[in-house]
Amino acid sequence: MAIREIRVFGDPVLRTVCTPIETIDDGVRAMVQDLCDTVAFDGRAGLASTQIGYTQRAFSLHIDGEVSYVLNPELCDLEGEPVPTGEGCLSVPDLWFDVLRYPRAAVRGIDLDGNPVLIRGEGLMAQALQHECDHLDGKLYISRLEREARGEAMRQIRTSSWF
Ligand code: NI
Repeated sequence: MAIREIRVFGDPVLRTVCTPIETIDDGVRAMVQDLCDTVAFDGRAGLASTQIGYTQRAFSLHIDGEVSYVLNPELCDLEGEPVPTGEGCLSVPDLWFDVLRYPRAAVRGIDLDGNPVLIRGEGLMAQALQHECDHLDGKLYISRLEREARGEAMRQIRTSSWF
């Protein structure tokens, strides 16, 4: 069990397009343990592998007090009209911006035994599924902002104490 340091904006690993997991070995099991251990704090709703330095496709969730994870997640259902939703990211500390997110979403993947997993939800769960899937494609939510908001986000990043 290990609580990992969270990588922040500027770390190239956050821009990595992650590779699918083909063999579930000890390395993958350790990554999942780290993802679950590191997400299990108040104020942490989701954590993608890149955020703790891995580059295989997996993320953990911490929603309604419950920690879960999925390997090789793929968004399979996006429902409703996208709405501006307040969003932040552990890798971009202290920033908070509205992002267009579908109100309902589902992800398909597998668990550590290779069995199919389906995670479906609305509200925060739907938002987290979309946000974490973006991470695995090397994308941070600020890249989804309109030009003006993105400029403001970059300004806040440049003047932040952690950057
Ligand atoms: Ni994030």
